[in-house]
Amino acid sequence: MKTLIPSGRAGGKALLASLTLLLLSLNSCAESAPEPTGTVAEKAMVVSAREEASRIGLEVLKKGGNAFDAMVATEIALASAYPFAGNLGGGGFMVYRTAEGETGSLDYREKAPLAAHKDMYLDSLGNPNPELSRKGATAVGVPGTIAGIFEVHRRFGSLPMKELLAPTIALCESGVRVTEKQARRLEAYRDEMMEVNGDSVLFANDCQAGDTLRYAALARTLERIAAHGRDEFYKGETARVLVDFLQARGGYITLEDLAAYQAVWRDPVEFRYKDLRIISMAPPSSGGVTMQQILKMMEPYELSKMGQHSSRSIQLFTEAARRAYADRNYFLGDPDFVDIPLETLLSEAYLQERMAGFSFEAATPSSEVKEGEIQVYESSETTHYSIVDQWGNAVSATTTLNGAYGSKLYCTPLGFFLNNEMDDFSAKPGVPNMFGLIGAEANSIAPGKRMLSSMTPTIVERDGELWMVVGTPGGSTIITAVTQTILNVYEFEQSMQEAVSAPRFHHQWLPDLITFEPEGFSEALKDSLRARGYHINENRTPIIGKVDAIRVLPDGRLEGGADPRGDDAAAGF
Ligand code: GLY
Repeated sequence: MKTLIPSGRAGGKALLASLTLLLLSLNSCAESAPEPTGTVAEKAMVVSAREEASRIGLEVLKKGGNAFDAMVATEIALASAYPFAGNLGGGGFMVYRTAEGETGSLDYREKAPLAAHKDMYLDSLGNPNPELSRKGATAVGVPGTIAGIFEVHRRFGSLPMKELLAPTIALCESGVRVTEKQARRLEAYRDEMMEVNGDSVLFANDCQAGDTLRYAALARTLERIAAHGRDEFYKGETARVLVDFLQARGGYITLEDLAAYQAVWRDPVEFRYKDLRIISMAPPSSGGVTMQQILKMMEPYELSKMGQHSSRSIQLFTEAARRAYADRNYFLGDPDFVDIPLETLLSEAYLQERMAGFSFEAATPSSEVKEGEIQVYESSETTHYSIVDQWGNAVSATTTLNGAYGSKLYCTPLGFFLNNEMDDFSAKPGVPNMFGLIGAEANSIAPGKRMLSSMTPTIVERDGELWMVVGTPGGSTIITAVTQTILNVYEFEQSMQEAVSAPRFHHQWLPDLITFEPEGFSEALKDSLRARGYHINENRTPIIGKVDAIRVLPDGRLEGGADPRGDDAAAGF
């Protein structure tokens, strides 16, 4: 399929509006449609972590490209506009829904190199050495992003790849303006970047808001990829430079690893929550399965009547999340390597049984692990973008280097950071990774295996129509942030922008702590939770996620929700 020009929203907008009005009057459960408060567009929209990337995606849509063309352009634009997480040296997941309602997903997650083995990050005493799995060349998984964009383009693209890469090549040459938030991040990570790369690396320089960063080497790499295609990255000069660079620094990736890399089309997780149909990422991401478990455990309750951040609604969410994350950590891994008992994990009977011990009177303790024993790291890495085109095709894509600037290893000759995705494996079952997530055997390291992810690119239908495109960064907090955003609109009748901006909280089974964002949760609320046996994370009140989302309004227009926690921006026409 090359073009996707359907009977979608543009042509049938008036019809859709009348049908929606009819449904509203017939169905008491139908959406009461909160007024939009975010950016509103008539036909098409891109919401991403940077204004430059949203604009590049939008330009593609304006000149007649579809959502998949815009995905390619936006993904690559983020590598220069947002090197914190945008990448050529990482990987991601993309969930789509065409205007005809066909759904699917692409896994372009990194893989363990062929030389990898289960104990590769353990020291002589058998203890994990996080320095090796988080920093420098030893932490790098085989990158999937270039395979991902070429696979999307092969199947759905309508404009030439060269045209999709050209705006980012131009941006690399003209330079990207440093924002205040970016300057603070670069300052925070400068010492680590110099430790890993030496002091001649581009990011060793003091960088102020308003400065311009130019990426000449990245422009040359993209030019070669535009000229020679996907194989330039996996088999060509770029592959040779990358392998030499990594091996000179003790990395494991070989030319054979790059040549063998393939992105994989997978069936998404699809389920109903009340009158929504939710389409999200399946393993090797835990996002869709864990969200399905959380929402299905909550479904029997009248959440909207409890109030958005009431003690009861926080208890209900926390207890469902506690149980779902426990399953996540034990059962989930790369489906190409492990048998996941998905049918049982997602069955109504199993989930009802899981919630059987829940009572609003008292918290269910997660385990004997005492709070504070497990360290949780800042986790706002990764990045997400949402796209809807003028025909109604929708793309939800989350892409990552794992940590902030990945392994911090910047491949100067090629102009991009390398991931530290190997840390998403369980280096040793029972020991937490950088997000405090404790993994099990299902996520142990093996050659060619994909590491478990929390990325949750999601699309939601209501009454059979596209209703929301949503996702976020945030490591282990991704799943809770996406789930709460959907609930904010559906149960608590917020606009897309309000739902994205609303304060969030998180629980992930272990450590047995509810983490709240700094604003929006009163001491009285926390006291009432403490009185019921909940442990509040007193030490950390981080921001949780940076959600970028689009909602289709009842009249067919689009409302963007761009997260004010970052430099995120919605652009539409
Ligand atoms: N590296 C973050 C994730 O995949 O969930």
